[in-house]
Amino acid sequence: MSALSRHAIRDAALRTPTDLGANATADIAAALTGVLADMFALYLKTKNFHWHMSGPHFRDYHLMLDEQGGQIFATTHALAERARKVGGTTLRSIGHISRMQRLPDNDADYVTPEDMLSELADDNRRLTGFLRSAHGVCDNHGDVASTSLIEIWIDEAERRSWFLYETTRSGR
Ligand SMILES: [Fe+2]
Repeated sequence: MSALSRHAIRDAALRTPTDLGANATADIAAALTGVLADMFALYLKTKNFHWHMSGPHFRDYHLMLDEQGGQIFATTHALAERARKVGGTTLRSIGHISRMQRLPDNDADYVTPEDMLSELADDNRRLTGFLRSAHGVCDNHGDVASTSLIEIWIDEAERRSWFLYETTRSGR
């Protein structure tokens, strides 16, 4: 079998029937997969900082980041399945995440508690922007199921940014 026909069979096997057009499928799956990569990156950074937290506010910060990590992780399954439901494909590996993520990792040996919280506040604000632009793509194609999920995730990201902002402000 030629590589071309293997390709055609593979594409057909993953083409979920949908009333959305081919352009909509490609655009929506790409937008959702980009957000998904950022959600995984932010999830791991939030857990990284949860695990490596230190200092007199350890308990508060450690618990807050655990709660935020759980909220971020809970979005991942729905994001991936939306991409598949509209007939697209999505992430396949950690390597795939690293090629697509826009939010940067932080592999530093030591990060101060204040820097951890303000970096996460920035990341959550950037994530809100990525969610807004994915919302625009889905809205353009009439994908109301994706837009309604994204609206909830925007509210959650804004809540995380708010908590992180207020926590760092009162710490100074
Ligand atoms: Fe934990």
